[in-house]
Amino acid sequence: MPVTLTLLHACFLLWTSFIQWTVSAPLKRPDSCPGYKASNVQRSDSSLTADLTLAGTPCNVYGEDLHDLKFLAEWQTDSRLHIMVYDKDEQVYQVPEFVVPRPTGSVSSDASMLDVSIEEEPFSFTVTRKSNGEEIFNTKGSNLIFETQYWRLRTSLPSNPSLYGLGEHTDSLRLPTSEYIRTMWARDAGAVPEKTNLYGTHPVYYEHRIDSGNSHGVLLLNSNGMDIKINDDDGQYLEYNVIGGVIDLYFMAGPSPMDVAREYSEITQKAAMLPYWSLGFHQCRFGYKSVEEVAEVVANYSKAGIPLETMWTDIDYMDNFKVFTLGEKFPLSDMQDLIKGLHAKDQHYIVMVDPAVAAQDYPAYNNGLDSDIFLKKADGSIYKGRVWPGVTAFPDWFHSNVQNYWNSEFTTFFDPETGVDIDALWIDMNEPSNFCEYPCNDPRVGDHGVTQVEISKHNIQDASPHVAATQALTLQPKVWNKIPHVHARRPVSRQEGSTGNGGKKKGLPGRDLIYPLYEINNHLGVLSNRTADTDLIHQGGWTEYDTHNLYGTMMSAASRKSMLKRRPDKRPMVITRSTFVGAGSYVGHWLGDNVSSWDQYLTSIRHLLQFVSFFQVPMAGADVCGFLNEATEHLCARWTVLGAFYPFYRNHNVDGQPPQEAYRWESVAAAARKAIDIRYRLLDYIYTAMHKQTVDGTPMLAPLWMHFPNDSNTLAIQTQFFYGPSLLINPVTEESSTSVSFYLPSSTWYDFSTQKPVSGAGKTITYSDVADTDIPILVRGGSIIPLRVKSAMTTRALRDQNFELWVAPDADGNAEGSLYLDDGESLVQDGTSEIRFSWDGLTLKMEGTFRFETKLVLKSFSVLGDDVRTYRLDEGLDGPWEHGVGDLELL
Ligand code: NOJ
Repeated sequence: MPVTLTLLHACFLLWTSFIQWTVSAPLKRPDSCPGYKASNVQRSDSSLTADLTLAGTPCNVYGEDLHDLKFLAEWQTDSRLHIMVYDKDEQVYQVPEFVVPRPTGSVSSDASMLDVSIEEEPFSFTVTRKSNGEEIFNTKGSNLIFETQYWRLRTSLPSNPSLYGLGEHTDSLRLPTSEYIRTMWARDAGAVPEKTNLYGTHPVYYEHRIDSGNSHGVLLLNSNGMDIKINDDDGQYLEYNVIGGVIDLYFMAGPSPMDVAREYSEITQKAAMLPYWSLGFHQCRFGYKSVEEVAEVVANYSKAGIPLETMWTDIDYMDNFKVFTLGEKFPLSDMQDLIKGLHAKDQHYIVMVDPAVAAQDYPAYNNGLDSDIFLKKADGSIYKGRVWPGVTAFPDWFHSNVQNYWNSEFTTFFDPETGVDIDALWIDMNEPSNFCEYPCNDPRVGDHGVTQVEISKHNIQDASPHVAATQALTLQPKVWNKIPHVHARRPVSRQEGSTGNGGKKKGLPGRDLIYPLYEINNHLGVLSNRTADTDLIHQGGWTEYDTHNLYGTMMSAASRKSMLKRRPDKRPMVITRSTFVGAGSYVGHWLGDNVSSWDQYLTSIRHLLQFVSFFQVPMAGADVCGFLNEATEHLCARWTVLGAFYPFYRNHNVDGQPPQEAYRWESVAAAARKAIDIRYRLLDYIYTAMHKQTVDGTPMLAPLWMHFPNDSNTLAIQTQFFYGPSLLINPVTEESSTSVSFYLPSSTWYDFSTQKPVSGAGKTITYSDVADTDIPILVRGGSIIPLRVKSAMTTRALRDQNFELWVAPDADGNAEGSLYLDDGESLVQDGTSEIRFSWDGLTLKMEGTFRFETKLVLKSFSVLGDDVRTYRLDEGLDGPWEHGVGDLELL
């Protein structure tokens, strides 16, 4: 090529990139946007509507301003107000109802705890609590921006607000109030670093106002990428910066924090009730290399006298990590023997299934091709990424054939007679994770320039995201950036093209689905990096750009259905990594790839509470002893004790690190035996709490402020928590320490191990000499706790143990508690018992419904105090009855 031509070509390229930059750079700053003007304001008994029109010259900061919008406020219940701002033509994407069903209802605004008012120009709205006039949400002073690929809405807040939620994250439980960004974009987030987006997206926050003691909640039901900024540089505010979808807000009035949780459960469709056995102790690891090794772990647990309820196998069981296959070290007959052996001892078995299917000539892939369920590119070819087995295709959960496909793979591979008879399921990598950096031109090529064939020759660790994950530990989160995020150089816009799966693309046309001008603070950079490309179109026209955050929850829903196909009468248990609003109604969640570090042992508590207390995903827990890096004996012992108070209690370890099963060290084995003993004796107490959460949304675990909403000392506590309604768990927090100081809110308290009163309520108290096997547990006065008289090696055996009650009187000498009984596993129960106990200092009463048939009895009850008194009962669980202590034998 002549030199002059090359030079000309270079000049042309420079010129075009300059043009691109000037075209794509924002013409105005968001603060200069004109806002909207409201007209045609109509108020009915149960709704308020208005038309919104752009109030001036469009600012087109990150797209084009929409000219005509609509405002809708509807009072749905006395405590729930729904507010939407959406485009007049309803072309903008909205989260599909068939994925996240919406709550409905209509009440008179007079009946509601909340009111809403609007100001016409510039348009703003305010939500107030009628009882005391406090403003819950107020958008005054910051113009609404609503563009083709960006919208912004800001609410002012009282100074130093107590905000919680906006997960998934590992940041402080009470969220920072200055220069803080919560980004919602599901990602494979090894090492779960703070200040980054993690696996799940739950754009809901709880705000507690300590002056009034009231709480409220705000859900933004939107699945697009977003940054939620909390800052105090211009008064205190919370600001949504969202790259698509509509403004779809649900306000929950509380007024107590527990009320907010219960109100939120009405939106999330109530969590799924899981089997009794799922609360047992689980063992897992990535890197069990053969069925013999798995069997050996099971045997070692039994030799060590540590109750093992469920054995798990990671992707190692597969043939080269291909889903729905068995590797040569895991032959079917041996797997079946293993499972039969487990079942014969009333133990359980779980394996992992990933969404990505190896793009190789084998049944799961070929069946997927036949049913046409894989995500496709615009040219109609299958979209390929790279996950554990190498080049992979990704199921399109929107596809009308996908459920049948998934059912059929499940019913064949996991057939109870002829296949692998799992009791529950583990699903992973469903953000979806893709090891390929964007643009993934050749998925066979690894991140370090090696092909997948070469990778498998090396330690898989070196090529896995866990390397990146460990590095992420040292990465600094992006600093708060006052300058709007914008790509300085916008690549050539993508062609609209056909959808690949047919059908019309949903959402506004003409959007740049790869490089939206507003760049959210995704820790992995561009939206499509290490996941499915955001310009892919699902069947029905849904863009991956709009629905990315739904992928894990759609896989969860489909997997739950497939598990039900195998055993229609049993409660399915599915544990997933990626979650969205409402996921708890299908699945539980483990907290992903944490690190075996002291720091993350503590982080796990606040990470866990988000899911159980705020997001209505009660079955949650972190990898006990930590996943990445090497666990020390001391850490593993402490973590094994703490984990006994997670709803989901599983030891899990990464491939390549030293083993960390509880029997590997004597101190950890002792810790496990003691912690499991306590957990199992309390299993029905926590099962009752779980059942309550599935029925009315009361969180089975909660931070202290939810129980003590008037005590400002509780607001930021994140290393103590309530296990069920009555037990306060206070783990040792420092590595080198055997003592722990913790706050005791004003109440009557008893020590769980001595059953005697503990003084110091309203202050910080210290427990010394807390051995590695121990954890201070305090019983709240006013409670009655049902316990099994003895623990057992399996939850099945536990269910044959009788009960006793612990009565912990409050300052007035009263106490109450409850017990829920059912068969532990049937989806539809023949009969359940919901028993309430009460104590007034002289008489113990039992009342309720008694439909669960059992021969079990209440052997005794103990009244905690300086002088613990235990009374003999030998009473069946088919009351009602009442006993004055005078009638009873004192033991
Ligand atoms: C990533 C998961 O987070 C981890 O728990 C699992 O061990 C690996 N994938 C391998 O399947």
